[in-house]
Amino acid sequence: MNATPAQRQAALLATAGRVLAGGGLGLFVLPPELNVVVARGEGSHVWDVAGREYIDYHLGSGPVLLGHGHPAITRAVAEQLPKGTTYYFLNEAEIELARRLVDAVPCADAVHYTGSGTEATFYALRMARAFTGREKVLKFEGAWHGMHDYGLWGTVPAAASPYPRAAPDSIGVPAATGDTVLVAPFNDATRAVELIEQHAHELAAVIVEPLQRVLLPEPGFLAALRAVTAKHGIVLVFDEIVTGFRIAWGGAQEKYGVVPDVATYGKAVSGGLPLAVIAGRHDVMATLDARHQPRERVVWATHTLNGNPICAAAGCAALDVLGAPGVYPRLAATGRRLREGIVEAGTRHGFTVQAPGEDAVFGVRFTARRPLRNWIDLTTADKDLGLRWALELLRRGLLVNPNEKFYVSIAHSDADVDRTLDVVDAAFAALAREVGR
Ligand SMILES: Cc1ncc(COP(=O)(O)O)c(C=O)c1O
Repeated sequence: MNATPAQRQAALLATAGRVLAGGGLGLFVLPPELNVVVARGEGSHVWDVAGREYIDYHLGSGPVLLGHGHPAITRAVAEQLPKGTTYYFLNEAEIELARRLVDAVPCADAVHYTGSGTEATFYALRMARAFTGREKVLKFEGAWHGMHDYGLWGTVPAAASPYPRAAPDSIGVPAATGDTVLVAPFNDATRAVELIEQHAHELAAVIVEPLQRVLLPEPGFLAALRAVTAKHGIVLVFDEIVTGFRIAWGGAQEKYGVVPDVATYGKAVSGGLPLAVIAGRHDVMATLDARHQPRERVVWATHTLNGNPICAAAGCAALDVLGAPGVYPRLAATGRRLREGIVEAGTRHGFTVQAPGEDAVFGVRFTARRPLRNWIDLTTADKDLGLRWALELLRRGLLVNPNEKFYVSIAHSDADVDRTLDVVDAAFAALAREVGR
């Protein structure tokens, strides 16, 4: 007898549980009864193997800003595919994408390709060390810069860190890397400047997510980092892996009006294919330049598949689509309707809920703490309620990552938002019944 779609999905999940470490791709695990195996996506929707349709607000954790299977991306990849997948020599698509990035990114005189956001921030920090001859870096509590050993300090602490020290987030991170990573609370300009001044002689870089997860930078915070790093010759790195080409064409640099020395890009920059970018000022980027200095003076940051033509062609296509007039106002309007509708529905059902962030990427947090300025403020959110609400959304056909972010694509339609807000209302109603409100 043929298996039903639901049985096929159950069998695939059972196999995944056996052959994939942890049964999935990483930290993000749904309860077994709501777990999905995605069969396909189209625009703002995905379908699982069991045949259920979802409106997707996870978007592959952000890269699918154009929506799934966008014809421009599909065409660009299809045109490149028969010509070969990778050469490890220069190719036209990679040069063209670099040219467009240098045009679009305020801080960029040149770019360097990597395969993932993790590699981009890892090498940006190495370049800063080489450029300054100093070893330490400063990051902010609650900031996510990927999985390398220098990023995983003070990312998700349960309580405030003993600044500038912090605890490692992952088991297996060498304690010695923590000696080179200082951690400060986000949005506290006075404290950050004080710490940076104190450690200026040993600081190579200050790395910051300008929109830290769902926390907006307060007026003056990024400018204060810009001023103090410039004063001491410290490399200011904006991690724009989430914000780049999403919250504005020129990312956070355009939106918040502060230009760093170096910025890292990933996710949306290559239309959902695996490519990331380090973009920066010519003298910092020159640390990678093997034409004018001996090997031992050059930062090593090369990988087999970097800048491969398929990802680069997809990147060019993505930028073509995003560069069209009206894209960003429309994206923001979609996100704004969602944020306002979610908060309105939650409040109507008796919950204290906020939707912090930008319109194109925001969170939903059950907390009365206002304003939400830093990671410790975010820890006041009721994660159990957040999880239960997200599970109600999943049951009703919204694909979301509990207690994380809602990503909005340019493919989300007004009808998607209408349907989403109906689901949101039903999910809050169910939650209110569960918790007796
Ligand atoms: C701000 C930021 N930086 C870096 C990364 C790491 O990128 P990747 O997952 O491609 O390694 C992420 C991933 O979510 C991110 O959100």
